[in-house]
Amino acid sequence: MQITNICCIGAGYVGGPTMAIIAKQCPEIKVTVVDLNEARIAAWNDQDMDNMPVYEPGLSDVVAQARGRNLFFSTDVDKAIDEAQMIFISVNTPTKTYGSGKGMGADLKWIELCARQIARVSKSNKIIVEKSTLPVRTAEAIKDILQYAGNDIEFQVLSNPEFLAEGTAVEDLLNPDRVLIGGDSSPEGKRAIESLVEIYNNWIPRERILTTNVWSSELSKLVANAFLAQRISSINAISELCEKTEADVNEVARAIGMDSRIGPKFLKASVGFGGSCFQKDILNLVYISRSFGLTEVADYWEQVIIMNDHQKKRFALNIVRKLYNTVSGKKIAFLGWAFKKDTNDTRESAAIYVADYLLNEQAELRVYDPKVVERQVYADLDYLGSRTAEQNRASIGVGADPYEVCKGAHAIAVLTEWDEFKDYDWERIYDGMLKPAKIFDGRNLLDADKLRSIGFIVQSIGTKS
Ligand code: NAD
Ligand code: UGA
Repeated sequence: MQITNICCIGAGYVGGPTMAIIAKQCPEIKVTVVDLNEARIAAWNDQDMDNMPVYEPGLSDVVAQARGRNLFFSTDVDKAIDEAQMIFISVNTPTKTYGSGKGMGADLKWIELCARQIARVSKSNKIIVEKSTLPVRTAEAIKDILQYAGNDIEFQVLSNPEFLAEGTAVEDLLNPDRVLIGGDSSPEGKRAIESLVEIYNNWIPRERILTTNVWSSELSKLVANAFLAQRISSINAISELCEKTEADVNEVARAIGMDSRIGPKFLKASVGFGGSCFQKDILNLVYISRSFGLTEVADYWEQVIIMNDHQKKRFALNIVRKLYNTVSGKKIAFLGWAFKKDTNDTRESAAIYVADYLLNEQAELRVYDPKVVERQVYADLDYLGSRTAEQNRASIGVGADPYEVCKGAHAIAVLTEWDEFKDYDWERIYDGMLKPAKIFDGRNLLDADKLRSIGFIVQSIGTKS
């Protein structure tokens, strides 16, 4: 079937950019992105591109080009479902916070609501595409709900997980390593797969579009994230050993990464991985494995998370130790709050947890991040529930000028690898700080030798200070 009308439910970090690129590359397809969140849709429709809800390099140009032509953002979910031949479900699937599977399994409440709404509203045959990251066999539940809707409509359910990384979403969507599409092997299933292949084939070579059965596709997404996160936890584990042995983790990463079987990517030691997905997806993998009684499999993957939690805590405790075992009343400047550079997303950012540890030690924190606004920093801390909103506001401040944020600080902690931090006037920052002026570089971003020559005491990850 030639697709001319697409709807995407969920206008978040995945739905927005993914649909903007489809609209850009396929001008003959009408793409409507819908969301229950009115403020989010209004922001996508805002003429001032600085107000877009998702910051991604290059995205505002893509949206400006397609919006109003064949890309639309709306809160009228029913209408968009009714009109579409193909519906992407791109809603959030966070870790459950209640009941069975609490803290481990994915909360599929929003997925199910979408399926029920599609079943209720649809008047013609439709292809449903799972774009959200889902536990393996979720398509079975979606099919069940659609099948028993009693409206004689034929639904095909495909799995088409998204592999974009935030901060490089536009580049990743335009030039992906692969696109994965899982579907049924029935003739109808194959036709549905082919419809989606044709859309991507407008700009992605056929050999990079991989088709599998639904379950392999669903599971591959969880496994891809687990493997990526595992590499970070592996190098972070080695970073702690490096700090004890005078080996340098950057040199070790380079040495092992040049082995073509290992490869150089995702070997950057850090304060710990963050982001909305790695932890959630691994916890989900662990939960699924445990639910099948696969204890060793579950324990193996859980260790990736345990190591990551350890790395965040270790970074915070090291700051306390190096500041003479007390940070009570001391000012510590945070450079960066986002979970990685080039995004305004702070979900599960390591900075939140490092801040929480330091606030428990009664530190006074000041934060600067080029893309994260003050209310987000407070929302992240309030969400943890470690202390009251008033207490959070009394002990952490957010500034718009990095030099002011660092002024009078006992120490600086680099939590996000924003490029601009490298180009600061570090002599000026040094002059404004209390001495000894200490820097804890959680991203191995700054030139430690240069900083030492200015007078800073520098502690990087995975190198002996
Ligand atoms: P998000 O929270 O940014 O966006 C989800 C949106 O869905 C929200 O705006 C929410 O209001 C909306 N929504 C929820 N239920 C709805 C409903 N019933 N009707 C209409 N709108 C509804 O989430 P995200 O980061 O875009 O992630 C979405 C999915 O994609 C998740 O499963 C995630 O694991 C996966 N994923 C995310 C990334 C990423 O980089 N963020 C990458 C790959 C995959
Ligand atoms: C990750 C995956 O890379 C995407 O393929 C996937 O689609 C996405 O999750 C998802 O499912 O949500 P993302 O979380 O946006 O993308 O960003 P990454 O570049 O993977 O970084 C994740 C975290 O790991 C960041 O905190 C980053 O700073 C950290 N990281 C990354 C390291 O500490 N070291 C590295 O070498 C690489």
